[in-house]
Amino acid sequence: MADEIRGCTACPLHRSARQAVPGEGSAEGRILFLGEAPGYNEDVQGRPFVGAAGQLLDELLRGIGLDRTKVFITNVVRHRPPENRDPLSEEVAACDVWFQRHLAVLQPKVVVTLGRFAMYKFMPGQSITRVHGKAQRVGDVTVFPMFHPAAARHQPSLRGELVKDFQTLAQLLAAPGPDPKKPEPVAATQQTLFG
Ligand code: URA
Repeated sequence: MADEIRGCTACPLHRSARQAVPGEGSAEGRILFLGEAPGYNEDVQGRPFVGAAGQLLDELLRGIGLDRTKVFITNVVRHRPPENRDPLSEEVAACDVWFQRHLAVLQPKVVVTLGRFAMYKFMPGQSITRVHGKAQRVGDVTVFPMFHPAAARHQPSLRGELVKDFQTLAQLLAAPGPDPKKPEPVAATQQTLFG
């Protein structure tokens, strides 16, 4: 699938980007981190979250005893938008085919969305300030929205929110709970995942 993504020409971003950034990590943990789009470093290396935002993500993962080899990390769009502009809705729509394939293959118990573009995949138009750090069941998937690590670099107050949200995520992952493959109505506050 990574090779298929590397050959993708479904939107114009492949023309300006150096290469695609398909995503990487482990399927076993069944935790999918979804970022926004590759930036400069990701475009050069072909790997997600390898720049400054990635360093913070690694730190936050380590803080709850995880690392990037135990989760899967990908982005809403898999080619870098020129000058790091926001991805356009047509680009997001064109790249959705890969997200759906990732969901089907990885069957994540939880999708952690980083930033509003990733959150919009499940909760279009929602306010990230309102919903971050709260697990929500959307269809068959448990979604855990968070601020984007890059936002915390520009707004230091968000860093504390991210640290807190990672602690909440750790609790969610540690507690026993239903398998999202067998959906049943569970209040978001009672929702737990592993065990
Ligand atoms: N920001 C993202 O959203 N994704 C990356 O891969 C890197 C930075």
